[in-house]
Amino acid sequence: QVEVSLRPRYLKEYIGQSVAKENLQVYIEAAKMRKEALDHVLLYGPPGLGKTTLSHIIANELGVNVRTTSGPAIERAGDLAAILTNLQPYDLLFIDEIHRLNRSVEEVLYPAMEDYALDIVIGKGPSARSVRLDLQPFTLVGATTRAGSLSAPLRDRFGVVSRLEYYQEEELTQILMRTADLLQVGIQEDGARELATRSRGTPRVANRLLKRVRDFVQVEGDGWITAESARHALDRIQVDRLGLDQVDHRLLMTIIDSFSGGPVGLETIAATIGEEGHTVEDVYEPYLMQIGFLKRTPRGRMVTAKCYQHFGLTYPS
Ligand code: ADE
Repeated sequence: QVEVSLRPRYLKEYIGQSVAKENLQVYIEAAKMRKEALDHVLLYGPPGLGKTTLSHIIANELGVNVRTTSGPAIERAGDLAAILTNLQPYDLLFIDEIHRLNRSVEEVLYPAMEDYALDIVIGKGPSARSVRLDLQPFTLVGATTRAGSLSAPLRDRFGVVSRLEYYQEEELTQILMRTADLLQVGIQEDGARELATRSRGTPRVANRLLKRVRDFVQVEGDGWITAESARHALDRIQVDRLGLDQVDHRLLMTIIDSFSGGPVGLETIAATIGEEGHTVEDVYEPYLMQIGFLKRTPRGRMVTAKCYQHFGLTYPS
């Protein structure tokens, strides 16, 4: 059995994010008509919503190569200069976690983005001078979970800024039906819907849960994913009916049990549950805030009455 790629390759296969998708379609077509490089694109939003997938789709639609890297992987200015000088005309450079680029690397990007040029300093001390090296036209696609932590000069150099949203249940259901088809596992629509309701609005989560549910129905069931077999498997995986897993439970119960519901600081929560602060902030919190279980206040995180209710607890007055 060969590994199949689950990622859609063209915009017409891509489900959801209709605003971002339809606008990108126009910008791509316009760039192709004018035979120019597509303007630089910033994709932002919570993890797992398809930023990497979209960047590859943009490259496929443009008919260009994509070079993929990430903010933390580019340590020195020279590393980025090497990548930029090796691009073919109109290629797409994808930088994931672009908010984690360090300052000296970021400064190489400014003239590259604005003028397709590199400014190189030759020599040291009083005889040092700067020479400008031309680059091929290219498209930078940056992805970040937090547009707010991008520096203003970098953010301002993106001509297209696109925010990805959590997916609707209906869209996730369609994505799950598509993925099940690619994985050749039998699924009923209400089985897909059951999975969709527990996927936190996130295709990456949906597809991961689908694979685990497939394991259960193939080993312990008749191989079919129905609402009932999905529910059974998801209970075994300990994903609750809102899609919250063990880490979410530990996070929320820590605030409730050890800090009387909050407010409590992010780093305190992270240390108590043994996760990194930025993991809690980027991965776990956005969905908990989206469903109204957690609030950020100036004095720290607080659990809401709605969350107490979900756990069958009384909200302290
Ligand atoms: N697989 C993961 N995300 C998807 C999407 N947005 N559309 C189609 N298939 C997907």
